[in-house]
Amino acid sequence: MLNKAGSLNKKISKGPSGPTGPIFYCEDVSVEFNEIRALKNIQLTVERGEIIFVTGASGAGKTTLLKLLSGLQEPTSGKIIRPNFFAGKKNLYISNVFQDLRLMGKYTCEENLMFAYDSSIYKDKAEFIQDMHELTRILGIKDRLHLKINQANGGLQQKVAIVRSLLTRPDVLIADEPTSSLDTENARRLFDVFNLYNAKRGLTVVWATHNKELCKSFTGRIIHLDNGRLVYSGHACFI
Ligand SMILES: Nc1ncnc2c1ncn2[C@@H]1O[C@H](COP(=O)(O)OP(=O)(O)O)[C@@H](O)[C@H]1O
Ligand SMILES: [Mg+2]
Repeated sequence: MLNKAGSLNKKISKGPSGPTGPIFYCEDVSVEFNEIRALKNIQLTVERGEIIFVTGASGAGKTTLLKLLSGLQEPTSGKIIRPNFFAGKKNLYISNVFQDLRLMGKYTCEENLMFAYDSSIYKDKAEFIQDMHELTRILGIKDRLHLKINQANGGLQQKVAIVRSLLTRPDVLIADEPTSSLDTENARRLFDVFNLYNAKRGLTVVWATHNKELCKSFTGRIIHLDNGRLVYSGHACFI
């Protein structure tokens, strides 16, 4: 939602149910690839329901940090606690949208979304389709779902990947620069979706971005990486 200054504010929500409090905790975490120290002594706590942007120049360590949180990368040193390792608590489901969107080119956008249907998380298919319509309407892509992914432009593909991810009803969405060129209108729509799922389901979002429009209008927490170090955690935009 837009506030008076045109910013996209959000309230931190714990969601209707499920664990509260920190869901990611990094203590003095470093990641090394041979000689390269991609992440250096990272201290980071992410609370459930936060929407966080990760910024930093190319090579700063954004992708490595996201992979670390997703469990796709182990630290070389330090300690990390992820939701799946919470003993005795309900596991949280993390969904990733990485730069390789992993969509199926010869299928339509709608067919790609239908693949996200899981009968164990939806009451029935009608409920799934209702969610799909809601998300695609907010993102303004409902009338283009008949297009094959191969015929869809980059922006449409990115939105389909995000909707597909949200349709799996994740507790955490971790996305690595999937929205390279969103204008203000599309940025607003994306925030509308985040805010909706944040309020409805306590969705946590960790989002790496180079997108100035998106970052300028964001008033949540921004984490800035510089050469592998977490140099800032606050509300100012660095890009
Ligand atoms: N698998 C890898 N093997 C070797 N070096 C890597 C690997 N992944 C990342 N790096 C290096 O780690 C640093 C951080 O990379 P990355 O996390 O991709 O940064 P960003 O996403 O901010 O561009 C870069 O110097 C990159 O070359
Ligand atoms: Mg990257």
